[in-house]
Amino acid sequence: MPDGDGGVRGSDGPADNSADGPADDSDGEPDRVLVTGATGTVGEPLVRRLLEDGTPVRVATRDPERARDEFGDVPEYVEFDLGRPETWGTALAGSDRLFLLFPPESGVGAVTEFADAAERVGVDRAAFLSILGAEKLPVLPHRRIETHLAGTGIACTFLRASWFAQNLSEIHRREIVDRDEIFVPAGDGVLSFTDARDVAAVAATVLTESGHADRAYDLTGPAALDFREAADVFSDVLDRPIGYADPSRPAFGLAMYRRGFSPGFVAFMIAEYSLVRLGLSGRTTDDVETVLGRPSRTLREFVDDHADAFRAAGDSPSRP
Ligand SMILES: NC(=O)c1ccc[n+]([C@@H]2O[C@H](COP(=O)([O-])OP(=O)(O)OC[C@H]3O[C@@H](n4cnc5c(N)ncnc54)[C@H](OP(=O)(O)O)[C@@H]3O)[C@@H](O)[C@H]2O)c1
Repeated sequence: MPDGDGGVRGSDGPADNSADGPADDSDGEPDRVLVTGATGTVGEPLVRRLLEDGTPVRVATRDPERARDEFGDVPEYVEFDLGRPETWGTALAGSDRLFLLFPPESGVGAVTEFADAAERVGVDRAAFLSILGAEKLPVLPHRRIETHLAGTGIACTFLRASWFAQNLSEIHRREIVDRDEIFVPAGDGVLSFTDARDVAAVAATVLTESGHADRAYDLTGPAALDFREAADVFSDVLDRPIGYADPSRPAFGLAMYRRGFSPGFVAFMIAEYSLVRLGLSGRTTDDVETVLGRPSRTLREFVDDHADAFRAAGDSPSRP
């Protein structure tokens, strides 16, 4: 396993507090994985991947019927809302492993209290979706959750991901489709675009195979690109010119607010792009390849695989 920038963290990672056994428990039954955020950008491909591998999956969602439309009858479904602790017990009962995330509109306390509940009922392994560089930002909600998890008896793996390429198909798709431009205030800053499908594949691996407990992986794409270079990738793949708008941060914020994003999320996006402008988001690592045994997907592969979505007119179904 790599050290230093390669991703496995000593004092910054989870505590070495549990055996890292294979994905079956003492009764010989395969372990059940409770997936929070199962309908989200990472959770959706994670659920599909676990199901393909024959792993028992429990989909935790505020809207089980909507999720059933997406995944069909194979996984179990449970109504789960971090803001409603009365939904936690049913979600956790009989769950052995946990994919945990911090939903954008939730509080840190709800996630840490839920983790404590998971520990109490015997969840022994968890993967937590965090953010690249979290270990250097003690006030970041994700880091506060990591620190809490490291103090529990759950053997955790922290998945510290860089900016998802899927932000381009979910949040920024409309401007690409309607105006042929990527509309983000990132200046000349570079990003190590990560494909969320790779994050999901790493999550599936660390939750079902041994050797990953009490570690932190820094998950990035293979290259750092600025948004002019990213726009060039779009132009090549889509065979039409796509530009990079680079609006001012106030102009970006106003436009996103008018599109219907909440003020909190708009502020979060502006903060993210400010970090990009400062050159703090371009680090690349080999951790995806270390875990999966293949390189991380490129931005070109992402645009290729989603080309129809960037050609089609109309709104993204999941974003304002
Ligand atoms: N976007 C990026 O570039 C990026 C990069 C690194 C890390 N991250 C981190 O990734 C996390 C988000 O993951 P994602 O992008 O896969 O998710 P997402 O697409 O933003 O979807 C949010 C998920 O959270 C669930 N959720 C929302 N409120 C909930 C609540 N009160 N209780 C339980 N579940 C709730 C939703 O499930 P239902 O609606 O089905 O209940 C949904 O599945 C965030 O912590 C973010 O900071 C994002």
